[in-house]
Amino acid sequence: MEQAKENQENNTFKEDVIEGLTRFPKRLLSKYFYDKKGDEIFQQIMSMPEYYLTDCEMEILSTQTADISRLFESDYTPFELIELGAGDGKKTKVLLKYMLEKQVDFVYKPIDISHNILEILEKDLNQKLPTLRVKTEIGEYFGVLERLKNYTQRRKVILMLGSNIGNLLHPQAISFLNKLKNTMNDEDILLMGFDQKKSPDKILAAYNDSTKITEAFNFNILERINRELGADFDVKKFMHWPSYNPESGTTKSFLVAKEEMYVYLKDADLTIHFDRWETIHTEISQKYTDDVIQWLANEAGLEIVTSFTDKKAYYKDYVFQKRN
Ligand code: AVJ
Repeated sequence: MEQAKENQENNTFKEDVIEGLTRFPKRLLSKYFYDKKGDEIFQQIMSMPEYYLTDCEMEILSTQTADISRLFESDYTPFELIELGAGDGKKTKVLLKYMLEKQVDFVYKPIDISHNILEILEKDLNQKLPTLRVKTEIGEYFGVLERLKNYTQRRKVILMLGSNIGNLLHPQAISFLNKLKNTMNDEDILLMGFDQKKSPDKILAAYNDSTKITEAFNFNILERINRELGADFDVKKFMHWPSYNPESGTTKSFLVAKEEMYVYLKDADLTIHFDRWETIHTEISQKYTDDVIQWLANEAGLEIVTSFTDKKAYYKDYVFQKRN
């Protein structure tokens, strides 16, 4: 079962890589950053001083814990706390700990695309919060959304932290939020993190740290193709190039070929040609304003209940309910 699932995921990886590297302009999907190595690098990113997102959301969750918990508790009926893209649960743990101490009746259901990070999370939770009821689930957002529809027995509180929504451009984000809404009952709530527009140099630095951790994160997607598809990418021939457009609020990351080259993907028996300065688009990290979030919510049929922010107002956690 587990094995069959892995093979299936591997096929998709291979198909998506072939599709992405044979189209113009070339692209790779950011969900493929997160293999074991990528998970490790992302954990380093979260603790870099330049990557303010994690600290800001940590500040929100640890200074406004009681208010957030009260929202989740609602009418005191038991609920499932479903977290999309839980990762290592670094920020969520603050909330989990508080709610356990308060003896709130909930089950924690962390969902992530990375099998590896979920194992790490589960072990860590068993050790640090032994009384917590945890049910991990591996999967991608959309597949998981389908399954969410069946969890109608209990009230649902859905969490999506870290501005993970930012990997989607607005039209995709609307359709995603709309699908999320369709899994929700009237009493269910959604708490979602949105990184805010701010000084462009602050944003760019978060994706272009001088310690080159983000560069390593971006390169890892090529190294993963080498590892899993027998390719021969020489990452030294690429540059990590993030950009931020202060008008659209979109951060886009690229890998730029510094010279002309051919790369062979053994498992696909495919040769890919790169022109000098040709790009591979690897990631979008959208930044938001209140107006844009209000618009996204409207389009998706959601209603804003409240929001929480950090002292600098760099980052916001919004709480939504289904609009009646
Ligand atoms: C986990 C998708 C929110 O876009 O900020 C961090 C990933 N990429 N540095 C983001 C990321 C480069 C991160 N998200």
